[in-house]
Amino acid sequence: PNALENELLKEKIRSANIVGIRSRTHITKDVLNEAGKLLAIGCFSIGTNQVDGHAARLMGIPVFNAPFSNTRSVAELVIAEAILLMRNIPVKNAAAHKGKWLKSAANCFEVRDKNLGIVGYGHIGSQVSILAEALGMNVYYYDIAKKLSLGKAVACSSLEELLSLSQIVTLHVPETPLTRNMISDKEIALMRWGSCLVNASRGSVVNIQALTSALESGRLLGAALDVFPDEPASNNDPFVSELQKYDNVLLSPHVGGSTVEAQHNIGTEVAEKLVRYSDTGSTIGATNFVQISLQPNNNAQRFLHIHKNEPGILREVNYVFTSRGINIAGEYLQTDSEIGYVIVDTESCLGSEIIEELKAIRGTIRVRMLF
Ligand code: NAI
Repeated sequence: PNALENELLKEKIRSANIVGIRSRTHITKDVLNEAGKLLAIGCFSIGTNQVDGHAARLMGIPVFNAPFSNTRSVAELVIAEAILLMRNIPVKNAAAHKGKWLKSAANCFEVRDKNLGIVGYGHIGSQVSILAEALGMNVYYYDIAKKLSLGKAVACSSLEELLSLSQIVTLHVPETPLTRNMISDKEIALMRWGSCLVNASRGSVVNIQALTSALESGRLLGAALDVFPDEPASNNDPFVSELQKYDNVLLSPHVGGSTVEAQHNIGTEVAEKLVRYSDTGSTIGATNFVQISLQPNNNAQRFLHIHKNEPGILREVNYVFTSRGINIAGEYLQTDSEIGYVIVDTESCLGSEIIEELKAIRGTIRVRMLF
C-alpha cells in the first residue's frame, strides 16, 4: 500500500526480475546499483520522473509507462467544465449551497455554435476537439507543430489569433520554457470579453495574477483550473490559492486524468508492455531505451544482447554463433549514442554455455535467452 523507501527498496529489489511502481517510489541510480537481476521497470503511471531513466538505460533496463491511458478522462472533464462555465453554474452552485436562489438566464449560454480554442493539439487537445464538435462547437486550435485537423477543426497561425476568436480557451500544452506563463496579462487582454479559460495542463502555464485581474475586471466570465503552480504534496496538506475567493472559478485537485477507467488502462497497458518485453524482447513504448518491435518466433531460440555502443561488438556477437556453424534466422539491431540492443534468432536449440560466451564479450551490459 505504500511506496518503499531507500533501504527497504534496495533490499527488495535485489531479487526482482521485473519491478512495477507507482509515482511515489523513487528508483535512483543508488537503488539500481542493487538491482542485479532487474530486466525491466514498469511505471504504472503517466510520467517516469520517479526513475533515473538514464542510469537504467546504461544498465540495460528499459522503463515502460502508460502515457495516454488518461487522455480521454481529461478531455471529458474539460468539456464538462466548458459547459458548466458557459452556464455560470459554478456561481449558482455556490449560491445555492448558501441558501440563495439565482434563477436567471443572464450570462448563460449554450456551447453549441460557440468557438472553442484549443492550445496544444496533441493527444488530449485532439480528443477535446472531437467531443466539442459532437456538441456543435466550432473548434480552433494552435500548436507549435504542424498537426492534422480532425473533423472541421481549424488551425490558427498564432496564439493571438486563437485567443481573439474563442469564447472558451482550453490549454493542453506540456510544461516547457515556452509554455511557462504562456497565458499572462498580454494574452488575456486579447481574449474576448466574457470568455472562459480552462487549464488542465500544467500549473505553470497560466499566470495566476493575470487570471485574477481578468476575473476582477469581468473580461473572463469564469475559469476552471485542475492544475496549479503550487500543488499540495498529499491529501493531508492544505491547498491554498488566491482563486478560492472566486465563485466563478471551478477548482479541482489535479484529477483530470483520475478515473477508474484510466487506472484500469494504466494497469493493462504497462503490464502488456512488460509481458511483451519479457516474452519477446520488444521495447516498443520504453521511455529510456532504443525501440525494437518484434513478434515472438516460435521456431527460433532468441538471444537478447544489450551492450555499450562501441565498434566491433556486433561482429563478436555474431562470431559466437557463426563459429559454431549456427544459422542466424533473424537479427535486429538498434543503437543510440550510448547503447546497442541486438536480438538474434537462431534455428538451433542452444545450451546455456552460449550465454556465458555472450556475457564475456567486452562492453556487454545484459544478456538473456528466450525459448
Ligand atoms: P501531447 O504531448 O500529446 O500534446 C501536447 C501538444 O502541445 C503537442 O501537440 C505539442 O506540439 C504542443 N505544444 C508544445 N508546446 C507548445 C507551445 N509552446 N505552443 C503550442 N503548442 C505546443 O500531451 P498530452 O498528452 O495531450 O498532454 C497535454 C498536457 O496535459 C500536459 O501538460 C500534461 O501534463 C497534461 N495532463 C494533465 C492531466 C491532469 O490530470 N490534469 C492528465 C494528463 C495530462
